[in-house]
Amino acid sequence: MGSYRIAVLPGDGVGPEVMQEALRVLTAVERGFGHHFDLTEEIVGAAGIQRYDIALRPEGLELCRRSQAILFGAVGDPKGDDARIIREALFPLRRTFHLFANLRPVKVVSALAGGTTIKPEALDGVDLMVVRELTGGLYFGLPKRQWRSKDGRKAVDTLRYSEREIERILRVGFELARQRRRKLTSVDKANVMETSRLWRQMADEISSEYPDVQLDHMYVDACAMNLIYRPSQFDVIVTENMFGDILTDEASVLSGSLGMLPSASLGKPRPDGTAFGMYEPIHGSAPDIAGQGVANPTAMILSAAMMLRYSLGLPKEAAAIEKAVEVVLDKGYRTRDITQPGSRTVSTREMGEAVAAAVG
Ligand code: IPM
Ligand code: MG
Repeated sequence: MGSYRIAVLPGDGVGPEVMQEALRVLTAVERGFGHHFDLTEEIVGAAGIQRYDIALRPEGLELCRRSQAILFGAVGDPKGDDARIIREALFPLRRTFHLFANLRPVKVVSALAGGTTIKPEALDGVDLMVVRELTGGLYFGLPKRQWRSKDGRKAVDTLRYSEREIERILRVGFELARQRRRKLTSVDKANVMETSRLWRQMADEISSEYPDVQLDHMYVDACAMNLIYRPSQFDVIVTENMFGDILTDEASVLSGSLGMLPSASLGKPRPDGTAFGMYEPIHGSAPDIAGQGVANPTAMILSAAMMLRYSLGLPKEAAAIEKAVEVVLDKGYRTRDITQPGSRTVSTREMGEAVAAAVG
């Protein structure tokens, strides 16, 4: 029985629609478990630029600071300036709250395995978690600039990692592996890059503290191949920022629909194992289908479940949502993106209502 403060940032496109369904499911959790979620909304993304001439105003960041977690819908507009949204909202959120650990689970729901471009046999038993470093590496390393020289234009980005940054993300990987199937694949390019050689050494050093976890190293190019070739071999993958960005888009194909995949971006773990975090679906704002009531709210709903588990310390409640999603899919409810012959095609709202009912 607790009260929890949550910042709600629905964003653009389908963001507000899927957020509404996640909030509906959270209301069912309040009723079922006797909690109170204190929700405060803030405009973010293209909507923020339109209203306040900034993608996320300082008051929005302040709201997040006062909250225990951030629920984030999706941002971006085809007529807008995506680079500006990244610069004014996404990166400030990641950096201000030191959200260095990006968790992207990929689980194949067997009922949906037929819906992908990959052979269903290869998808059997896929249940993996990519842990991507999110606040360092090439995205933020300095120098980072473009200039003119006498032999033409030049540009530089810097890939730099400190021991501290590598250690904390590796530990997240080891800890998660310990709670799962005890297998950690550390992905690098140690045959070429110094940062990767340091990464690999540190993974070996830290692994002595986790004798129960089997650590393997894999080059990023080989990992890209294995994710498609034999994805069920993976349990937890831990990797640096840019490798993780690329591999998670690839891994998302395994699930059949982007509309199924949640994510968490976490800060430093607290002694009780929870952390401040931001939770968002992997899919974007999908402006082409916005406002039609056809978006799949599952990824947003599962992101809310991750929030309960990782930031609020409510694993039972999180599991109740995950179970409810499974039950509803088993009953044949499908939004348009995952529709199959013989299934029942439902709207965004009907899907949310069904999951909420199954939680209650
Ligand atoms: C992601 C996205 C972002 C990233 C972009 C929008 C900056 O691709 O969250 O994976 O590269 O981190
Ligand atoms: Mg990406």
